[in-house]
Amino acid sequence: MSKNAKTSSTQDSQVDVKKPATKGSKSTAAKNKPVAKAKPSTKKLTPTVKIVQPSTVWPFQLDHVEDWAYFQGAFTPDECRKIIEIGNARIVDDSRIRGNDVAPNIRDSKNSWIMPCDDSHWIFRRVTDVIMDLNSKFFKFDLFGFIEGFQFTRYDAPGGKYDQHIDRGLNTWTRKLSFTLQLSDPKDYVGGDLELYYGKEPTVPTKEQGFVVVFPSYVMHRVTPVTKGTRYSLVAWITGPSFK
Ligand SMILES: [Fe+2]
Repeated sequence: MSKNAKTSSTQDSQVDVKKPATKGSKSTAAKNKPVAKAKPSTKKLTPTVKIVQPSTVWPFQLDHVEDWAYFQGAFTPDECRKIIEIGNARIVDDSRIRGNDVAPNIRDSKNSWIMPCDDSHWIFRRVTDVIMDLNSKFFKFDLFGFIEGFQFTRYDAPGGKYDQHIDRGLNTWTRKLSFTLQLSDPKDYVGGDLELYYGKEPTVPTKEQGFVVVFPSYVMHRVTPVTKGTRYSLVAWITGPSFK
């Protein structure tokens, strides 16, 4: 007998089964009279209703979604350096938070935007391959693509950071997956950890150069303050039809 079945059997013995009153029976005759409370019987009761096993009692098909997924060595160190060059060649401006405000007490970073064009097609191609691979294995979300372009982000010491937030936007496309590529060599900076929150204690993926982290955009996360050097990352949001 399985553990669940055993649990179910224990529950069976606690089911309070009341026999229906029949015509002329004692209980019918006495129904208008005050009844003294009987002592609880120690006799094992037999339920009249079959208790369905927990595995079938709520028959929605379960489809587990992973908390996060990673792709090690998605880009080589040379490719990461090339992306840093491309990102820095675009207009780099103060990063903004939801509502389009610059708020360095919450988010202290600078960023540029990389759209698909001659010098960046290869980045879009590679990120697409990584996303399609991880999504098919771990998330299985319906996705459109990269509607917003890629955000190239620079966190400078001292204090470059992004406090706890989620990536779901307001009045915008439905962001379903968030993608982060660690562009910097971890020897080049201190702090600047990407932390994912699924409970009190954060999950902290490695800072290895070329490492990709993907997580559902409704997951709380932050980038801790950079205390030395500069951290570069490439961030993308993959949009799709609303969750249903
Ligand atoms: Fe974010």
